[in-house]
Amino acid sequence: MNKSDDLEKFAHDLQKQILEQIKKQYSEVAIDHWQNPRNFKRIENPDVYAKVTGPCGDSMEMFLQMKDDTVSECGFQTDGCGTTIICGSVVTELAKKKSITQALSLVSADRILEILGGLPDPDVHCAQLAAETIRKALADYLSRKTGAKH
Ligand code: FES
Repeated sequence: MNKSDDLEKFAHDLQKQILEQIKKQYSEVAIDHWQNPRNFKRIENPDVYAKVTGPCGDSMEMFLQMKDDTVSECGFQTDGCGTTIICGSVVTELAKKKSITQALSLVSADRILEILGGLPDPDVHCAQLAAETIRKALADYLSRKTGAKH
């Protein structure tokens, strides 16, 4: 075995070990959202935009397109950890194609945790950040709409 084969084997083994560690702490659903995040994108000219910074200093941005009071499209961005991406992916899937009232009743940190089969304690605030950001976007849309009626 030459040096580059050694290095490749080392990298492969390391990757395997990391994945094994991750599997001990995160459910298969969580790992799937981590490896294939849904709606992890910026939407140009969204109907609603919200940005929230969590207590850890990480931020999440949410972009929504609305059609007939339904979330027709949504996307998110974050400068946070991998778990924030998992939670943004879950929460946008929950809200997508739902009416504003349905979406508001569905998105919460508890619901994200339920879908993910829980998260390690230090990551629970990542679910709270994702839920808070989308709830802010939905609430802003609602208050803009109600405000426009008066
Ligand atoms: Fe800050 Fe996950 S959101 S560590």
